[in-house]
Amino acid sequence: FQPKLLAGKRVLLTAGPTFEAIDPVRGITNLSSGKMGYAISRAAYEAGAQVTLVSGPVSLPCPVGVRRIAVTSALQMHATVHQQVAAHDVFIAVAAVADYRPAQVVEQKIKKRLQASPPSIELVANPDILGEVAALPSPPLCVGFAAESENLSEYAESKRRSKKIPLIVGNLIQDGFSGDCNTLILFDDDGAHPLPPAPKIDLARQLVARVALLLEKV
Ligand code: C5P
Repeated sequence: FQPKLLAGKRVLLTAGPTFEAIDPVRGITNLSSGKMGYAISRAAYEAGAQVTLVSGPVSLPCPVGVRRIAVTSALQMHATVHQQVAAHDVFIAVAAVADYRPAQVVEQKIKKRLQASPPSIELVANPDILGEVAALPSPPLCVGFAAESENLSEYAESKRRSKKIPLIVGNLIQDGFSGDCNTLILFDDDGAHPLPPAPKIDLARQLVARVALLLEKV
């Protein structure tokens, strides 16, 4: 029997990649299966929460009981999160948001011109969705993710400090990408809490338990 750790709580999540269009058939994206964010959505629902999942393009079914809002670009994800956030107690940002998008979306397919020099794409920065939510006057409890290829503890802790969030989840890219298992380390004010290799749904349940604990403290 799983105690309903998040009964009566409303949890907003982002998951998956974003896709930043260059023209009607091309774009810039990040590699992200969405599996970790979807597993956390499921675990939060199982724990009794009302769950809203803002999802970039992935090929996963919506977890039972979860309200999913599908988006494509970082700007759409940003707008949707801002529309939704006031009604939520917790915000868990799992999405691999593209840091940059093309400054202009070209309306017609860009044609290949072999004689000319290759085209260049001007990029502009996307908003930091999690950073902005954490800076709201009365933010929900904010949880971030740090996917790193090295120096996990150092990078995750510095991200937690710079975004001013109580909890960040670190994982090494080589451990979890696109698979069903992962290895996580949770970093909060009490220090580092390693979660040994396990299926993503088990890790998601452990993360939900830590979120419930932090909610008790606020
Ligand atoms: O270092 P970075 O800003 O990419 O931090 C990763 C964390 O911030 C993740 O939780 C990710 O979902 C979130 N993020 C975001 N908006 C961005 C970039 C990252 O919400 N534009």
